[in-house]
Amino acid sequence: MAQVRFVQHDGSEKCVEVQRDVSVMLAAVRSGIRGIDGECGGCLDCATCHVYVDEGQASSVPPPSEEELELLSAVSGERKPNSRLSCQLKVLAPLKELVVRVPARQS
Ligand code: FES
Repeated sequence: MAQVRFVQHDGSEKCVEVQRDVSVMLAAVRSGIRGIDGECGGCLDCATCHVYVDEGQASSVPPPSEEELELLSAVSGERKPNSRLSCQLKVLAPLKELVVRVPARQS
């Protein structure tokens, strides 16, 4: 098991346990994390799972695919260099905790 720490734009935080083969989006939806909707279920069709990966951990996750990069251009919150779609993120070993920030809005 690993952990994801979700930091809201107001600074509040919630940590959830996640199995390594489960996406950050799915962990968020199952745990009722505010601001991550995951409307398409993770098939790269909605961009409602946008997060900002902690700057210090950006190199700890695989880079986005071309498909993800394309959909990131459609996010409604501010797009940043560390913007990712959380349905494409997993907490890979040896990382024990991934910190992501939730944008102020998804749509
Ligand atoms: S859940 Fe739809 S793009 Fe991530």
